[in-house]
Amino acid sequence: MKGGVFFSSSTMEKKLAFSVFLISFFILSIFTYLNTSLLSSVPTINSFLSKLSGDGRGPPVGASLLTAPMPPPAPEVPCLAYLISGSKGDLDQLWRALHALYHPHNLYVLHLDLDSPATERRELSALVGNHSLFSKVGNVHVITKSNMVTYRGPTMVANTLHACAILLRKTKRWDWFINLSASDYPLVTQDDLLFTFSKLPRHLNFVEHTSQLGWKEGERAKPVIIDPGLYKKNKSEIFWVSPKRELPDAFKLFTGSAWMALSRDFVEFCVYGWDNLPRILLMYYANFVSSPEGYFQTVICNSPEFNSTVVNHDLHYISWDIPPRQHPHILSLNDTEKMIKSNAPFARKFKKDDVALDRIDKELLRLGEENFVPGGWCSGKPLCTGVGDEMRLSPGPASRRLARLMERLVRKDAFKVNQCV
Ligand SMILES: *[C@@H]1O[C@H](CO)[C@@H](O)[C@H](O)[C@H]1NC(C)=O
Ligand SMILES: *[C@@H]1O[C@H](CO)[C@@H](O)[C@H](O)[C@H]1NC(C)=O
Ligand SMILES: *[C@@H]1O[C@H](CO)[C@@H](O)[C@H](O)[C@H]1NC(C)=O
Ligand SMILES: *[C@@H]1O[C@H](CO)[C@@H](O)[C@H](O)[C@H]1NC(C)=O
Ligand SMILES: *[C@@H]1O[C@H](CO)[C@@H](O)[C@H](O)[C@H]1NC(C)=O
Repeated sequence: MKGGVFFSSSTMEKKLAFSVFLISFFILSIFTYLNTSLLSSVPTINSFLSKLSGDGRGPPVGASLLTAPMPPPAPEVPCLAYLISGSKGDLDQLWRALHALYHPHNLYVLHLDLDSPATERRELSALVGNHSLFSKVGNVHVITKSNMVTYRGPTMVANTLHACAILLRKTKRWDWFINLSASDYPLVTQDDLLFTFSKLPRHLNFVEHTSQLGWKEGERAKPVIIDPGLYKKNKSEIFWVSPKRELPDAFKLFTGSAWMALSRDFVEFCVYGWDNLPRILLMYYANFVSSPEGYFQTVICNSPEFNSTVVNHDLHYISWDIPPRQHPHILSLNDTEKMIKSNAPFARKFKKDDVALDRIDKELLRLGEENFVPGGWCSGKPLCTGVGDEMRLSPGPASRRLARLMERLVRKDAFKVNQCV
């Protein structure tokens, strides 16, 4: 047929061709319409957030009649993978923090660095091994091959990545990695945190960051340091070598807080290293002062796959010194109001057995017998000596504070505007 159906000569054929055209156009339009509605029903961060503060039973905002019949699936309880680390003399504080943070659904890796005496490290292992609940649930692990960790040195990042790698090898599928030290403490219960995080997209990374290096450009990015922790048995301070180096131009530097919550995807990206960027940056940061305040920031903001997943917050309340923001004030009872107002799930840093911790235990965590924070999972007598249903959450008032924080952080406008700037 010469010229195809639309160019045929007879009137009859023309009419037929026109109807065929109309019908195909109609069918095509329906498909396009269905397609866009399907696309718009893909859960977005906003629809997750619209459920955050409500009871989660209402229809998601923007659901059209076409997509409404399927109720959103109940959010699954996520699993948090914690690293809690300490040094010489931190055993008691670490043990206390572990109890305040404990939930049978999570994973915990504990690390006392090589500077702490072997007796202290053995005692930690024994405490975990002999603990009736920890040994029954089996979700608390001690890194027995301890690392030498230098304050401000790259060995700190190596230690964090080591814990990440250990956690990736655990069979349990976790969702976020959270890095804490023995002098950190939670301000919310794990039920509150798990409840809030269950409504978040799992790919979010909480990494506080900025590209405005300020004084750090001269004091951090240019000097070259060596960390003896990489090759010496005994602990000694980092030292500076000359000449200094130029600022990099192959990637952009970012700096920020050493405290973070990383998605499993991003941790796999950093540990498995199928892309060379995390490895190259690890080597670059080996000679960088305070690499824990820059390594993950620079990796995530220079990775096109992950730069849109970063939330510019470290989930901590920290009372910094007036610039240069290098030494956090020790928190006391006087800071309780500010801590709570911040809506942050964690705070630092606390002195061992400070009265502020007792107040947090009593008023915010409602610590029970056996020093566990009561939650939906607790059973047995005394309460929380056994695990009932570990997926049952009973969030308290703090979950509303957390929801407010998440709304502020992850809501469309603030979320994108603060990314990698
Ligand atoms: C742990 O249990 C072992 C025996 O099972 C015991 O020898 C040891 O003293 C206990 N350690 C602690 C810290 O309770
Ligand atoms: C390392 O420290 C230990 C204990 O403080 C000491 O006995 C040893 O001599 C030190 N080793 C070196 C190489 O300095
Ligand atoms: C991880 O946790 C430790 C606490 O021991 C902290 O000092 C360190 O800077 C944190 N961050 C990173 C990126 O390693
Ligand atoms: C992420 O990386 C891509 C590709 O380099 C870039 O176009 C985009 O602007 C980046 N986004 C952010 C938030 O930095
Ligand atoms: C708390 O505040 C009171 C009164 O402002 C002050 O006297 C006290 O020293 C403060 N305590 C601490 C630990 O900072």
